[in-house]
Amino acid sequence: MAAVVLVGAQWGDEGKGKITDFLAEQADCIVRYQGGSNAGHTVVVGGQKFMLHLIPSGILYPDKVCVIGNGVALDLEMLVREIEGLEAQGISVANLRISSRAHILMPYHKKFDELQELGCRQLGTTKRGIGPAYTDKMERVGFRLVDLLEADFLSRLATVVSAKNRVLEQVYGEAGFDVDQIWATLAPCIERVRGHVTDTSLLVNRMVSEGKRVLFEGAQGTLLDIDHGTYPYVTSSSPTAGGACVGAGVGPTKISRVLGVVKAYTTRVGEGPFPTELADEVGEFMRQRGAEFGTTTGRPRRCGWLDAVILRYAVRVNGLTDIAITKIDVLDDFDSLKICVGYRYGDRILEEFPESLKVLQDCEPVYVEVEGWKTSLAGCREYQDLPEATRRYVETVAKLTGVPVCMIAVGPERHQTIVTKSLFGGPGTP
Ligand code: GDP
Ligand code: IMO
Ligand code: MG
Repeated sequence: MAAVVLVGAQWGDEGKGKITDFLAEQADCIVRYQGGSNAGHTVVVGGQKFMLHLIPSGILYPDKVCVIGNGVALDLEMLVREIEGLEAQGISVANLRISSRAHILMPYHKKFDELQELGCRQLGTTKRGIGPAYTDKMERVGFRLVDLLEADFLSRLATVVSAKNRVLEQVYGEAGFDVDQIWATLAPCIERVRGHVTDTSLLVNRMVSEGKRVLFEGAQGTLLDIDHGTYPYVTSSSPTAGGACVGAGVGPTKISRVLGVVKAYTTRVGEGPFPTELADEVGEFMRQRGAEFGTTTGRPRRCGWLDAVILRYAVRVNGLTDIAITKIDVLDDFDSLKICVGYRYGDRILEEFPESLKVLQDCEPVYVEVEGWKTSLAGCREYQDLPEATRRYVETVAKLTGVPVCMIAVGPERHQTIVTKSLFGGPGTP
């Protein structure tokens, strides 16, 4: 049995797309289980760049089954646009499978997301309609893909739209939505994807039972999780490992390993506390060197030092068995580097990530300083190629988290990846 869940260990954009693409070569099936087009996963192969929002980052391999699970908030228009974009880049989506239970993200969800961001709830969302879509799912007024294919869909939609329109008109003073217009947009998208729709829980469970290798690709990151993140500055789904079971319809007994993707420093997009943030020229250097601008919104990402308090928290709430470190090459030019090992709060040192945002806001990072390597890592392909100071940095991460590092990314390209342990069997696997 080889089912690996891959999650972001920080606030998203850790390089999950790159690591998923790399691991996908050894997998049979790659599954997205939560989030929606708020995700922006980048894969670079031979200088060609692919931006994936809804489609799993295994799609570049034509023989792999790629699944959009039931837990994804599915914007059909965006999906069709993404399919067309990939096809224009010469990529086939023939092996894409979409859960009939996935909830559909409607045009009014995007409108509400925009309006809420202008009002009392300024979280810095991607304005992709994610919060409102998951709210409707929980409120049980959402529509699943299977519902769109049934005869009474338009009358059910009319009921929901009339309720949405009352809020839009009376609370926000905005024009409402027209059911026929929504249908005119949805209908061709449904036709485009119809042949890909199936019971993906059945498909994935069958593959696991047959001994196939399944990789679950998390979107966002641990600290954006609705339960475990820096609430309310979070997304509305469960990016943590447990979300893979719910969002793909597989039991926890089927999961063999959980891989945390850790950026060698920390970034965050949107609002909310960030203890190791560097609002100075060092942070600006990281942003430029790491090209830290959002894949989905283009917004500059906030940058700061690596935070081991966050990583230990990610180990705990995800049950991480392995870590992949990415973007370590972005730190090439520093004389020395800092890693946060605890938070000073008043006269106490906190070793665990606090639940109160007020406490988090008032925490001062306690750093250890380590030596930089001052040389380019871009060409390193084996662990032994890395300078001693880089190896010490990697070993410090493993020591501080208690979790072994199985991969190190030294550049955005697929081949700029060092593997120290195979996750899907093969030499070196315990
Ligand atoms: P994701 O959302 O976790 O998939 O991450 P994003 O794709 O949003 O952001 C990661 C960015 O870093 C992308 O532009 C990647 O191409 C790039 N990237 C990934 N790994 C590395 C690496 O090891 N080094 C460098 N320099 N860039 C990387
Ligand atoms: P990937 O998968 C980084 C952030 C938004 C905002 C908060 C809520 O590429 O790592 P939402 O639109 O989800 O309601 O926004 O979450 N956010 C991300 N930040 N990477 C992402 O995805 C994100 N998806 C959402 O910036 O702070
Ligand atoms: Mg991203």
